[in-house]
Amino acid sequence: MIVTTKKLFEAAYGKYAVGAYNINNLEQTMGLFQGNLDSQAPFILQISKGSRDYTDKTMLEGLIRSADEYFPESIFAVHLDHGDEETCYDCIDSGFYSSVMIDASMHEFDENIAITKRVVEAAHAKGVVVEAELGKLGGVEEHITVDEADAKLTDPDEAKEFVDRTGCDSLAVAIGTSHGAFKFTGTQGLHFNVIAEIQKRLPGFPLVMHGSSSVPQGEVERINAAGGDLKGAKGVDASQFKRSATLGVTKVNIDTDGRLVWTRVHRELFLEQPEVFDLRKPGKIFMAEYAKFIAEKNGYLGSAGQLENVRQLVTE
Ligand code: G3H
Ligand code: 13P
Ligand code: ZN
Repeated sequence: MIVTTKKLFEAAYGKYAVGAYNINNLEQTMGLFQGNLDSQAPFILQISKGSRDYTDKTMLEGLIRSADEYFPESIFAVHLDHGDEETCYDCIDSGFYSSVMIDASMHEFDENIAITKRVVEAAHAKGVVVEAELGKLGGVEEHITVDEADAKLTDPDEAKEFVDRTGCDSLAVAIGTSHGAFKFTGTQGLHFNVIAEIQKRLPGFPLVMHGSSSVPQGEVERINAAGGDLKGAKGVDASQFKRSATLGVTKVNIDTDGRLVWTRVHRELFLEQPEVFDLRKPGKIFMAEYAKFIAEKNGYLGSAGQLENVRQLVTE
């Protein structure tokens, strides 16, 4: 069942975070739905602009509609990840997406507000909800002072003004994370002081953490042992998700970790069985391993076991 992220956030706020996972193809889709059912979790399926170009937006829509039929117990939102204004309108008009992200964070504050506000008006007119972004994602080096670090992150006063002026439904904030497999060089991590200050100004308002992959070291070691070259890769400590959730982080975006599962499965298989050329061999293993990975992640997020609670809320 496809629902809005707003519904999922109502159930989760302050208690747990909902996993938002990117998909690009059939194997990821199958593993994603299976893993969420195995762990009885609601989830957000997100599609980036790159994914819409890779698999084609029409093919992706067909894939997701079929998955919804094949896994009828699932409850999920379909969300555009990091959209520009044009792609947001395309998704809103399609009638398929329940949620879009307008990422105008590269613009100055007022311009970001103007663009976001236009998208919010168009989306709300069609019952679609909007995630916006304020701040610049990026790791914060260890040697800089707390004041200098906070200056790189989302400003809590600006966050409040941004939400009031745009009417967006959730906000992606810069709290120390970054995209990809190389987030930190040392012992840096999440800036809980900043998250807490934002929550104080926006109580009850869902915050989104991008760049949340954990880049498990066991996975990196296996990839490197099978011929990969990901030295120094490092991610977010997954045991910190629940603390973030109590401070209002209700959506946690994870893509890189799934790519690492894919890389490990394929590298190991082709190294150990060089005679293989049947694409279904690694595909089958990947679907099972991806499902396992999703279920484990939902345990860290606290969304595991929440499916029936959410079903009650959405069918009331
Ligand atoms: O934040 C970006 C996501 O990881 C999606 O990546 O744009 O390469 O599909 P992509
Ligand atoms: P990761 O690169 O940490 O998986 O972040 C994904 C993300 O933020 C998607 O929007
Ligand atoms: Zn992101």
